Amino acid sequence: MSKTVLVATEKPFAKAAVDGIKKILDDAGYTLVLLESYTDKADLLKAVEGVDALIIRSDMVTEEVIAAGKNLKIVVRAGAGYDNVDCAAATKADVTVMNTPGQNSNAVAELAFGMMLNLARKNYSGKAGTELRGKTIGIHAYGNIGRIVAVIAKGFGMTVKAFDPFVDKSAIEADGVEAVDSIEALYSSCDYVSLHIPATAQTKKSINYDLLSKMKAGAALINTARKEVIDEDGLIKAMTERTDLLFGSDLTPDCLAELTDKAGDRVFVTAKKMGAQTAEANINAGLAAASQIVDFFEKGDAKFKVN
Ligand code: 3PG
Repeated sequence: MSKTVLVATEKPFAKAAVDGIKKILDDAGYTLVLLESYTDKADLLKAVEGVDALIIRSDMVTEEVIAAGKNLKIVVRAGAGYDNVDCAAATKADVTVMNTPGQNSNAVAELAFGMMLNLARKNYSGKAGTELRGKTIGIHAYGNIGRIVAVIAKGFGMTVKAFDPFVDKSAIEADGVEAVDSIEALYSSCDYVSLHIPATAQTKKSINYDLLSKMKAGAALINTARKEVIDEDGLIKAMTERTDLLFGSDLTPDCLAELTDKAGDRVFVTAKKMGAQTAEANINAGLAAASQIVDFFEKGDAKFKVN
């Protein structure tokens, strides 16, 4: 039966991704409704009213949004992290929530290196910088992104370590990556630490002063994960006391003004979260989301369900 699918993206997909989504939905006899670059939550509440399915990125899907979607059966987060979706409210309303794991991982991993190079080369200011070759990188969480970071790091000639309590040490070491036993061991022994943990009740504010102050002399923390995982008071304290530490982030910290004031050009923050903002990642994640919706309605396939 024909379905209506809303693509609501405050940060729009590349055009090729929207075209690809439309083609998948057209082929299934479904209708696409597009809500891009909206700035008012009211627009989302109105647009979701009559639709059967919703594709989003980092857009907030609150209880209010779910309640407004009277016919809503499925929400697909075109991407990895679904901390922006109120999964409990969705479950209560019998709405399936899915993500598209792995589809935008390469883009995020590449950006992590872009930020490392930027910091290593002193923001391309003309001052002498350093090289990545011969340095040690610590990958904090060895999932889809972490594994790609490991591959790229080896290409740069870096020594690679990882910490992930949810992944078998043997699986990490099979990739030629040293699996360290503790988060402290990772932070204290690496020149670069790249964060790839999700924002959960357990991880929020877990990157704190104690951990940051254990970092090696001249080390850099790269955050392409979520701003919530960093304890910002601890970050400011560590960056103020340790004038050797560097911080690169694809998420704008709430404390950016104070941080920049204290740490100046030791901090680099992108203008807008853009880890997954490539045509390739948009196509991979967007098309996967559309296909998952069609498979859900036509075949009852709930493989990527997260609630
Ligand atoms: C993700 O969780 O997939 C990434 O953080 C990408 O988020 P975005 O779709 O908002 O760019």
